[in-house]
Amino acid sequence: CGIVGYVGRQPAAPILVEGLTRLEYRGYDSAGISVAGPHGQTVVRRVGRVRELEAALPKRLAGTVGIGHTRWATHGPATEANAHPHTSGDGRVSVVHNGIIDNAAALRDRLSREGVTFTSDTDTEVIAHLVARSTAPELEERVLESLEQVVGTYAIAVLDAEAPDRVVVARNGSPLIIGVGEREMFVASDVAALVRHTSSVVHLDDGELAVVTSRGYRTFTRETPDTGREPTTIETSDEDVELGGHGHFMAKEIAEQPETVARMLRGRLDTRFGTARLDGLNLSPRDLRAFRRVKILGCGSAYYVGELGALMIEELARIPAHAEAASEFRYRNPIIEPDTLYVAVSQSGETADTAFAVREIKRKGGQVVGLVNVVGSTIARECDGGIYLHAGPEIAVASTKALTHMGVGFALLALLLGRVRDLSVADGQRIIAGLERLPADIAQVLGQEDSISDIARELSAAESLFFIGRVRGFPVAREGAQKFKEISYRHAEAYQTSELKHGPLALIEPSRPTVAVIPADDLTSRNLAAAEQVMARGGRVVAVTHPSVDLGEVGARRIDVPRNETELDPILLMIPMQLLAYHAAVSLGLDIDKPRNLAKSVTVE
Ligand code: G6P
Repeated sequence: CGIVGYVGRQPAAPILVEGLTRLEYRGYDSAGISVAGPHGQTVVRRVGRVRELEAALPKRLAGTVGIGHTRWATHGPATEANAHPHTSGDGRVSVVHNGIIDNAAALRDRLSREGVTFTSDTDTEVIAHLVARSTAPELEERVLESLEQVVGTYAIAVLDAEAPDRVVVARNGSPLIIGVGEREMFVASDVAALVRHTSSVVHLDDGELAVVTSRGYRTFTRETPDTGREPTTIETSDEDVELGGHGHFMAKEIAEQPETVARMLRGRLDTRFGTARLDGLNLSPRDLRAFRRVKILGCGSAYYVGELGALMIEELARIPAHAEAASEFRYRNPIIEPDTLYVAVSQSGETADTAFAVREIKRKGGQVVGLVNVVGSTIARECDGGIYLHAGPEIAVASTKALTHMGVGFALLALLLGRVRDLSVADGQRIIAGLERLPADIAQVLGQEDSISDIARELSAAESLFFIGRVRGFPVAREGAQKFKEISYRHAEAYQTSELKHGPLALIEPSRPTVAVIPADDLTSRNLAAAEQVMARGGRVVAVTHPSVDLGEVGARRIDVPRNETELDPILLMIPMQLLAYHAAVSLGLDIDKPRNLAKSVTVE
């Protein structure tokens, strides 16, 4: 979900709507705004996209203070009644909220007994009623008093017709940022909504609130009346969150990878000693040498790249490494070991399952570092150190460039861990040279977009597909299948090539094509044999492979990826998977940047 707010001299509505459009990728099943003006407060909400909200706005909406929200339903279906802002019975107070109020049911019961009538199924509505019923003189005090009764995670923005010059915001476990302008101030859950207006932002901490007026802001907590939080400057520009001539954000984000990867590597490669410079990890060589195991945690695609990361770490550093879905880890009372390096990997840095895994590790005294894209995000801040991915904002729900950057981040970490152990300078330098070639290699794959899109169109006709690979190729296949189902809605199943004969071969037939990852490595002949088995049973195969691989009798279609270093090859093998999924969805005419039922970052359990 996304939150925006504005306090200034201009009419708030267009600014709120524009901000919400920027945040639509965070949730898009309903949207609403609330604007305070001289004649009270106007709330407009609509099911569907922000453009539907925009069309429903009254012509004259002069208020210069307002809040807005775009929703991804959790509590209650996507109806207008459940859309934010939620208001108190008299319509005086309105609230937008990201997160979950754990004690909402108890608060609802109590408020109902006290005579409050609820108009939605949401947990958020209780906050509006609590604020409206508070008798404290200032809005900020009313909000503080209300939040003292609330247990849960939230980022909220509150508007009260009785204090129409201000917005009060609060954060606990869900991001909230203030944008500082000239005699106008902005509020958002994500910098994407702010960059058009300002690059000066204030990140709130958990437990912190702020009162925001056109003249400035004051941050505070229950204990401290002024926490004195200063603005920082963000690097994100307006361009980063615009389509820039591309048909979709996904296409833009795929296309910019050569440039963003080059940027990520800048200053991080130490050619002389064949190692990586990762000061943000806050780990000395002595610390790094003490780890006997590495455990990687992430969700969805981040988890799959984590599997690749584990392999890179085992190969380059020879430390046992393993990736697990953070969503499972946190629920199974994991054993936290002092000599394990935990790595949380997340594009957004806000995925609830991953953030909870981080907390569980820390509670039990473990050391956790982050591989995170969004600077200042929850996971980035809660980890003991980390590697920022520097991919720039990723707007398309289906992750592409952030995943490539995660792969590069793991390569850097593996290199560093290797170089404080047994990896030689020469091998370190070999990996560095490979990393330096990556941008050009990615560009080479992108140069084949036309032929890949032809193959994608053919694949899109199939109701069901297999993606197969083994060892390094298996996470690539998993990610390929994931991307394909996310945006083309076709059933795509990833399988270890080696396991095919132990079951799924029964399903092979001409209507179910197989995308096979066949790198030029020590397993090529085994992979080719498996592809032949598929063809022999009437299956069609698309090989994602290297130019030197002779497909011989296999008769498969091929997509050639330039060879890099064996350890880094999987990063490149993932690039055609992005293009296959993208072009399949294009040919099916689907809503690529906002696939049904999904959201960019899942900040709920
Ligand atoms: C959601 C998205 C996935 C993403 C996952 C992890 O489920 O739909 O595309 O891979 O979250 O997101 P993160 O921001 O933690 O990388």
